[in-house]
Amino acid sequence: MLPFYGRRLSRKTKKFSSYDLENFEFFFNEINFNETKKKLVKSCQNVNLEIGFGKGENLIFQSQIKKKDIFLAIDPFISGGLKLKKNIEIFKISNIFFSNVSFSQFFEIVGDVNFKKIFILFPDPWPKKKHKKRRLINEEFVKNLDKITIRHSEILIATDDECYSNQILKSFSKQNFFKLLLKTMDNQIFEDYKIYPTKYFRKAKKEKRRINLFIYQK
Ligand SMILES: C[S@@+](CC[C@H](N)C(=O)[O-])C[C@H]1O[C@@H](n2cnc3c(N)ncnc32)[C@H](O)[C@@H]1O
Repeated sequence: MLPFYGRRLSRKTKKFSSYDLENFEFFFNEINFNETKKKLVKSCQNVNLEIGFGKGENLIFQSQIKKKDIFLAIDPFISGGLKLKKNIEIFKISNIFFSNVSFSQFFEIVGDVNFKKIFILFPDPWPKKKHKKRRLINEEFVKNLDKITIRHSEILIATDDECYSNQILKSFSKQNFFKLLLKTMDNQIFEDYKIYPTKYFRKAKKEKRRINLFIYQK
């Protein structure tokens, strides 16, 4: 399965501060995920997932508008995880559990957890031809999504890369697991669907790139 190719630490993050995450009650790793899983099963709440949460802006937003839901989130970018931890503490949030594992590592441990909504906002586009294999969303990924979703689950994907948009469409249409509910370049829909305008959303808007939003439903 796909390894992680991106950056784990920003230049500003000191290596030792990443150890802060390990003892945080809302952080999980491959070893202790079963503890988090027990909490999910016990709670009987809807569980959602964000893949590549970045600094956690959308995640914090979602956790506040859906206080009865639980949000799992993964991103190997530790500096983003540290920022998220800070905000969880400041806003006293208790319905987010996050990790620095990549999607492929997460898929190995997730077991029978099913997600109601899965957010993938601005996955790394890897625009160079030689790097296209590094993209998160491909046919195998869609097959994996099928295994962690149930009827009516939704997958929300945003990208400002035209070529990646086409790859997303092809990957989903080759598998018959999800139907395309919505494909739009109307950014107003972000507000209507209550998706947070993240750092990469704002960057794309500033640089006048068109943003595609896809909503798939099982
Ligand atoms: C372009 S950033 C977008 C961040 C955020 N979603 C936003 O909109 O601001 C892509 C994020 O995906 C994360 N990422 C890349 N590959 C991943 C993988 N295999 N599993 C989980 N996260 C991944 C990166 O570390 C990065 O933080």
